[in-house]
Amino acid sequence: MTRRRVAVLISGRGSNMSALIDATRKPDYPAEVSLVLSNRPEAAGLERAKAAGVETAAMDSEGYPSREAFDAALDAKLKDERIELVCLAGFMRVLTPQFVETWRDRLINIHPSLLPLFPGLNTHAKALEAGVRVHGCTVHFVREAVDSGPIIAQGAVRVVAADTPETLANRVLSVEHQLYPFALSLVAGDRVRIVDERVTIEHPSAQIPGPAMLSPLVG
Ligand code: GRF
Repeated sequence: MTRRRVAVLISGRGSNMSALIDATRKPDYPAEVSLVLSNRPEAAGLERAKAAGVETAAMDSEGYPSREAFDAALDAKLKDERIELVCLAGFMRVLTPQFVETWRDRLINIHPSLLPLFPGLNTHAKALEAGVRVHGCTVHFVREAVDSGPIIAQGAVRVVAADTPETLANRVLSVEHQLYPFALSLVAGDRVRIVDERVTIEHPSAQIPGPAMLSPLVG
């Protein structure tokens, strides 16, 4: 089995990155994390990746004259490393339309809400403010508009009366750590088709491990 070469882009602690690294170490996983790259040199995730024996790169986005210049350097680095798929995991930077187009359908993101609800920041506070009873996370292909693009997989948690943004964030995060490796395995395993900007999954439910990963209701 050839394993797809994946880069994980981070800006911070990298807990989703760690979940991806752990999952990709299973012998039958269709991808490997070949590079972890951060636009912030101080990102804690870089140390976690090094400790896990994964190649890392820090490209300080402050050091580039423009968004275009940073994204061009990023693109060159990914190509240098023969990367095939890119996973954004807490990468706190909007990518240029040109970069998104270059990596179209090979660039995925995890967002801590059930998109299209609550794009942007502070999703858990927004969910509590809206009074939703179900919240969660989404893995999707990246398109030009922030937190938009064909949805690959979603995981849900129940919202309970005592929730604060922090308790909700923790509960969603533990689902993220299951969902992202699951969604990447579908993409890397070539089981995903995008038709009219909607995702269909080939060889459906019987072969999808653990229904809990698709729509767990926790809490
Ligand atoms: C996660 O909640 C992810 O959904 C969002 O940013 C957070 C990153 O956390 N995009 P971590 O760095 O993976 O721990």
